[in-house]
Amino acid sequence: MTTAEHAQLTIPLPDDWHLHLREGEMMRTVLPFTSRHFGRAIVMPNLAPPVVTRADAVRYHSEITAALPAGEHFKPLMTLYLTEQTDPEDVRAAFEHSDTVAVKLYPAGATTNSAAGVHDLEKIFPVLAVMEEIGMPFLVHGEVVDADIDIFDREAVFIERKLMPIRQRFPHLKIVFEHLTTREGVAYVRSCDSHTAATITPHHLVINRNAMLVGGIKPHYYCLPVAKREQHRLALREAATSGDPRFFLGTDSAPHLNQAKESACGCAGVFNVATALSIVAQVFEDEQALSQFEGFVSRHGPAFYDMPVNDRELTLIRHDDPLPLPKKVSTSEGEITIFDPMIALHWEVVEAAG
Ligand code: NCD
Ligand code: ZN
Repeated sequence: MTTAEHAQLTIPLPDDWHLHLREGEMMRTVLPFTSRHFGRAIVMPNLAPPVVTRADAVRYHSEITAALPAGEHFKPLMTLYLTEQTDPEDVRAAFEHSDTVAVKLYPAGATTNSAAGVHDLEKIFPVLAVMEEIGMPFLVHGEVVDADIDIFDREAVFIERKLMPIRQRFPHLKIVFEHLTTREGVAYVRSCDSHTAATITPHHLVINRNAMLVGGIKPHYYCLPVAKREQHRLALREAATSGDPRFFLGTDSAPHLNQAKESACGCAGVFNVATALSIVAQVFEDEQALSQFEGFVSRHGPAFYDMPVNDRELTLIRHDDPLPLPKKVSTSEGEITIFDPMIALHWEVVEAAG
């Protein structure tokens, strides 16, 4: 990190370790927001139908690279959507011979397009055994789906009932606890060795559940895992800004058309990538931890995934006046609302050089 009069940050180009890019026109609309500011992104496989096999991932990878703006070097990192029928040898081949770097667990019914996910974790143990052997990260949507568990408790219960047994059985499996939202999650990750890490989103650093529920129901603050109470947000901020390499940025930017969110049964997901780095920089400034910003957005993720830090650099400049916040993007099928962080943002991304 270099700073001039504390008003500028130049860091290695960040990566996004959890991103929903979708397909077709939606993908072509949202992709430039990521490719401008990030070197790589872990692309989530929850399309309809999902990206299950190596062949699906190869096809989806070409769709994304064909849509990249000319001259941009952005590299999509592909993931497979784990099902109870997933073939361990297809996973091995995907890891060894394609741009597929990880496998994602969606407990069936947990979130958007998770119906084809996993009911019985024991059925996926042969896949996990291969992943442990080859060093392929296992990305976990860490929520139980039992009807008797309160939605605000689903992450904490997942740790005890699901994650701890998996960890015990596969001690060397690399696990990323995705989009961490609770202090229990933070404590769990801290209790583990370096085979466990977690992504943290920009939105869970700046909002708690009041954003969604006070003064009327606000569907654009509804995402999964759902934002929790304030003490959890504070634990996430502490973890993200602590410099601990087990925590890194995954935006979980998850665009949906407004009509799908502003509905009697609205979809989960916020589209935050347009201002994700400005939000995170603001959080680190507010926590007086700007010196840790580069680790969280540019270094900890590559270290966990055994990848080099990006060669190219990105500069952010601090303005005294708050930046104007973009409000929406348009597609031919409707608009997508851009996440409003409910705080003033002063850090503008000015260039991705090199
Ligand atoms: C994601 C989506 O819309 O695909 N939604 C969300 O609220 N984060 C799915 C997910 O990551 O849970
Ligand atoms: Zn997600």
